[in-house]
Amino acid sequence: MNSISKDLPLSDTDERSACPATNGSRRAGILGLISRTRRSSTDIDAAKPTQASQPDAGGQRIVLGSEILLDRVSKHFSNKTVLDEISLKLDSGSFFALLGPSGSGKSTLLNLIAGFERPDSGDIRIRGRSVVGVPAYARQVGVVFQSYALFPHLNVAENLAYPLRRQGIRSRAIHARVNRMLELVRLGGYADMRITQLSGGQQQRVALARALVAEPDVLLMDEPMAALDKSLRDDLQVEIKQLQQSLGATIIYITHDQREALALADQIGVLNEGRFEQVGDAVSIYARPASAFVARFLTGASVLNGRAGGSAADGWYLEDENGARLPGQWHDRTPSSPGAKAEMAINPALVKITASGAHPMGWSIDARVAAVLYVGESTIVHLTLQGGSTLVAREPGASGRSVGEPVRVGWRPEDAFLFEVLHK
Ligand SMILES: Nc1ncnc2c1ncn2[C@@H]1O[C@H](COP(=O)(O)OP(=O)(O)OP(=O)(O)O)[C@@H](O)[C@H]1O
Ligand SMILES: [Mg+2]
Repeated sequence: MNSISKDLPLSDTDERSACPATNGSRRAGILGLISRTRRSSTDIDAAKPTQASQPDAGGQRIVLGSEILLDRVSKHFSNKTVLDEISLKLDSGSFFALLGPSGSGKSTLLNLIAGFERPDSGDIRIRGRSVVGVPAYARQVGVVFQSYALFPHLNVAENLAYPLRRQGIRSRAIHARVNRMLELVRLGGYADMRITQLSGGQQQRVALARALVAEPDVLLMDEPMAALDKSLRDDLQVEIKQLQQSLGATIIYITHDQREALALADQIGVLNEGRFEQVGDAVSIYARPASAFVARFLTGASVLNGRAGGSAADGWYLEDENGARLPGQWHDRTPSSPGAKAEMAINPALVKITASGAHPMGWSIDARVAAVLYVGESTIVHLTLQGGSTLVAREPGASGRSVGEPVRVGWRPEDAFLFEVLHK
């Protein structure tokens, strides 16, 4: 089922000049309600890029469709393919986290949606309308850049006020909104400071506040909290999530931090070399990563290489490069041939270590503790398995393990995913 959004929405300027005060007023009226109909699903749907339209009760045309739609979007820089036929459908009100290694194309994708780059091929639709060729300022999206992009000649308050002035909002209302937003990002006393007098983290908060102050329907954020300390990040994560829910905004949020992605987003996409490795809801992508790459990236999984062995009846295993047989399950399909090249991904949180004797998982392998990293709520234990393969486990609290200690290691076979290696 498609969500419903207006074909040609009132511009934000029109809407907010008429009633700039509250979120409630922005959502008043049936079209406002229709345009903010929430959807829960996000998926890749390259085959159906367009919308059906039908008249609404008042005779105005409304369009069935998604908030942001990318249809086979490609981008090259000097013959290098940076984005390769990316398709994505985000429904109104989704919070989509874009994850991926450095250079995978995340910022480029955001710049294409924002209008600062033009795709070489494919279509980009926002609120049902193609925006390819539409200048950035006319797309009505809020953007927080990786590089802040603040106006150095304006002070903090003027930076925040700028997008509101462009919307024609009156000075008194601007003043109130700017002050409220500065309080939110804990820069209450900084309104008159020059941008060049601020630290990197403070500048990042100004950039975040400037994007949020305009209360946009579509908000694109490129690592908006990368330079902030943990306590401020934790607080702002809650604020951003609550703000998104109260505004019904659609957010694309780039982060390197998988915990942040899981905490904030209801949908996650993992980009690798310009292609999505997996797109899905946060819970299922964490529980069932579609590739060893996604498992490593999202859960910090250990990835072991070897050959496939076993059968459906007796259970599958990976025979690792050192001859150890490690039980697991195939992510989707069984191997094309016995002994096929395979890799196994194991989430560290699901590895169980015991001192000796019977193992609660019913099977186990000898190992030795190679390193112990206490990180507060848990301890990361690096293990060398019998034969020499290495594996990481995460134990709750301070585990008290010591380097060199002999242990037994096991996991539920259904928690270790096997993937056939087809092209290596
Ligand atoms: N304007 C440009 N001209 C040439 N190459 C570019 C340009 N912008 C990006 N690239 C290249 O495109 C690739 C993807 O860059 P992009 O900035 O999208 O990566 P990213 O995923 O955002 O990385 P990071 O996590 O480091 O920010 C990189 O190899 C980069 O060098
Ligand atoms: Mg980037």
